[in-house]
Amino acid sequence: MESVVSLTSVSRRYPHGVRALRDVSLDVPAGQFVAVMGATGSGKSTLLHCAAGLDRPTGGRVRLVGQDIARMREARRTRLRRDRAGFVFQAYNLLSELTVRQNVALPARLGGPRARTVDEVLTQVGLAGLGDRPVGELSGGQRQRVAVARALVTAPAVIFADEPTGALDPTTGDRILTLLRQAVDRDRVTVLMVTHDPVAAAWSDRLVLLRDGAVADDRPTPDAATIADRLRGVSAVAA
Ligand SMILES: Nc1ncnc2c1ncn2[C@@H]1O[C@H](COP(=O)(O)OP(=O)(O)OP(=O)(O)O)[C@@H](O)[C@H]1O
Ligand SMILES: [Mg+2]
Repeated sequence: MESVVSLTSVSRRYPHGVRALRDVSLDVPAGQFVAVMGATGSGKSTLLHCAAGLDRPTGGRVRLVGQDIARMREARRTRLRRDRAGFVFQAYNLLSELTVRQNVALPARLGGPRARTVDEVLTQVGLAGLGDRPVGELSGGQRQRVAVARALVTAPAVIFADEPTGALDPTTGDRILTLLRQAVDRDRVTVLMVTHDPVAAAWSDRLVLLRDGAVADDRPTPDAATIADRLRGVSAVAA
C-alpha cells in the first residue's frame, strides 16, 4: 500500500554549507502517529517542512499521498497541501482579529472536496461555545485547539505538527494530544509530530530520532522514560 508520506534519501543543504538533512528515508503509512525527536538544530523542522512541501529538499524524493512533490509546480503543490494536509505549528498561524469560526473556516473556504463542517470540528475540540469569539481573546491552549480544529476541517490525510504542545501546561497539552490520537484512531489520519517532550512523544506509535540531520533511530514508541533515555543518547555532545 502506498505510504501517505514518503521520503527517499532526502537531503537539505542551506547556503553556508549547513546540511540540515542527510540522506533521510522515511515511509509513513495511513493511520500511523509518528513522533520526531532530536536535539535542537538536528533537522526536525526541516524534515517536517520538506515532507509537507513547504520547503524543497536539495536531494532525494518526497511523495505526499502518492504524489511526487519535490518536483511539482508550486501551484499544484499548494493545492495538494491545502486539500490533503493539516498543520499545527507552535506559532499558531491564526488571525487574531478573526473569530474562532472564521479561523477554522479559512482552509475550508479555499475549497477542498472532503471538508467537514466548522461546527462539527469545533465540537470535537471542545470549543463549540467559543465560535464567535475573536481568537485574540483566547488563552494559549484554546488557540492551539483552534489550530487543531483548522487542521481537521479539511479532513486531511496527514497532519504535520511542530511542537504542538511546547507552550502548553501538561493538562492542556494532553487535550491536544488526545485530539491528534483521536484523528489517527478514528479517522485514520497520519500524524507527523515534532516534539521535545518524551511524555508527548509517548502518545505516538513510532519514534524517529534525528542526529545531525540523519535518522539515528526508528522504532515503535516505548514508554516516556525509555524515550528520555534514547533522546539523551542521540543528544549527547561528542567529547
Ligand atoms: N533558513 C535557514 N537557513 C540556513 N540554515 C538553516 C535554516 N533553517 C534551518 N537551518 C539550519 O538547519 C539546521 C536544522 O534546523 P531545524 O530548524 O530543522 O532544527 P530543529 O531540529 O527543528 O531545531 P529546534 O529543536 O531548535 O526547533 C540547523 O543547523 C539550522 O541552523
Ligand atoms: Mg524546530
